[in-house]
Amino acid sequence: MTHKAWWKESVVYQIYPRSFNDSNGDGVGDIKGIIEKLDYLKNLGIDVIWLSPVYQSPNDDNGYDISDYQAIMDEFGTMEDWEELLAQMHQRDMKLIMDLVVNHSSDEHKWFQESRKSKDNPYRDYYIWRPGKDGKEPNNWESTFSGSAWQYDETTDEYFLHLFSKKQPDLNWENPKLRQEVYKMMKWWLDKGVDGFRMDVINFISKVPGLPDAPNPEGKKYVGGGQYFIDGPRIHEFFAEMNQEVLSQYDIMTVGEMPGVNVEEAKKYTNPERKELQMVFQFEHMDLDSGANGKWDLKPLDLRDLKESISRWQTGLHGVGWNSLYLNNHDQPRMVSRFGNDKEYRVVSAKMLGTFLHMLQGTPYVYQGEEIGMTNVQFDSIEDYKDIEILNMYKEKVVEGGADPAKVMESIYVKGRDNARTPFQWDSSDNAGFTTGEPWLKVNPNFKEVNAEQAVLDEDSIYQYYRQLIQLRKTHPIIVYGEYQLILPEDKQIYAYTRSFEGEKLLVVTNFSEEQVSFELPNDVAFDAKEVLISNYPVSGIDDFRAFTLKPYEARVYKGV
Ligand code: NOJ
Repeated sequence: MTHKAWWKESVVYQIYPRSFNDSNGDGVGDIKGIIEKLDYLKNLGIDVIWLSPVYQSPNDDNGYDISDYQAIMDEFGTMEDWEELLAQMHQRDMKLIMDLVVNHSSDEHKWFQESRKSKDNPYRDYYIWRPGKDGKEPNNWESTFSGSAWQYDETTDEYFLHLFSKKQPDLNWENPKLRQEVYKMMKWWLDKGVDGFRMDVINFISKVPGLPDAPNPEGKKYVGGGQYFIDGPRIHEFFAEMNQEVLSQYDIMTVGEMPGVNVEEAKKYTNPERKELQMVFQFEHMDLDSGANGKWDLKPLDLRDLKESISRWQTGLHGVGWNSLYLNNHDQPRMVSRFGNDKEYRVVSAKMLGTFLHMLQGTPYVYQGEEIGMTNVQFDSIEDYKDIEILNMYKEKVVEGGADPAKVMESIYVKGRDNARTPFQWDSSDNAGFTTGEPWLKVNPNFKEVNAEQAVLDEDSIYQYYRQLIQLRKTHPIIVYGEYQLILPEDKQIYAYTRSFEGEKLLVVTNFSEEQVSFELPNDVAFDAKEVLISNYPVSGIDDFRAFTLKPYEARVYKGV
């Protein structure tokens, strides 16, 4: 059954505020800076903005460590600025979804400050405290940002759990009082008029009781432990409660960021009948170019793996739940550098990737700068990097572990999160027009060629192409609701699929390589082209739709029956 909803028909734009636009010259993006650019986003066709955290934070993890959920970070402005942003967005008929980071808080949050004071403090159980085991950490779990997931605290001679940095202690969702505090805070924002939440690592909030050691056949110092906190035993109960107490009372959009989730769990999270969340933001396709040792273990992508993963999600959720569509965000390298070619085919390959993604089923997310084809960056020195994940990993591997720095830098160039966090390239003036001061992270040196000012003026730019893609979604319900079918699963260069809805069909053909390749529609695929909906090279007509040669990174979408 097709369940129609505004959030399925929308296109979301993600703003990472620190790097978007600085209005006051302090080198850090801010809320007034976002307001200045709303017309740029409206012109692109954006319906919803997901704003990465703007709350008060000591910035150990750039705002994902929150010390006050109901206050705005000084560097970003004031609550009045935020209210002005919301009002200006609503005037333009755009919606605002806020980042909700409640798997953990900052260690500077007043709850944690209290919690660490004594074992009988009323806030003690807001966090996860355990005594040491044989003079060591309570278990062998590893933090996402390297090292143990436990930090010893002298005051009470116990350890607290932190799945991320040691300044991000995990909140204890087993405690009903904590859950009520979170719901109260969510309502406070919803009553202020926000249109929904993107929920940070929200499938980590239920941990397996007893917090057992993870199996460790290789005898490593610390190990993942994900099986004890991903989609944990009470997770669906927590969402059902949150839905009943908060979400069901508002017409909002909810998206759960869920590392490690699989299709079966995602169906449960997003099936409207179960009344939990509306869509997941999952990472399977982001892990296909990693080896057995995780994200820094580089491996070339095999397109067949991408097809297998995307297709399983497309068919698995169809008619049941809902997915997010994205190829990059603030935690991932730039899409065009990772899946396309950021040199001679930068423009055409970015358009191909946009086509591939926007024609799938799900809600598309455009990450700031993607629409102008911003690329990865390579800073010579580790000193120029700011991301805690990169810096901790470098310290562990190079400084403590003696690894070859050049090799580690290579993995940072390919996978580091700062690739996506360099300041937005607005124009060709100093600092790419992002700030009049000293930017908090260096600007990518390619800003003279890659910037929004030239992209808006150039009719053939990625930006203009994205405008078309977004417009098509608004005028062709098949793009939102059509059923997906993969064709040519074994081809290593071409990704092709069809969509079908109410007697209409789309044929999407994309070349993920820089070679010319021949496409032939298999005989068993019933399709008759009526028009070319969009393409990133000129296409003369529909006559050859059954068999044609694709140019490097070419993308064509035919509409027909
Ligand atoms: C996921 C966020 O997207 C990432 O930036 C952050 O570091 C972790 N969650 C921890 O909050």
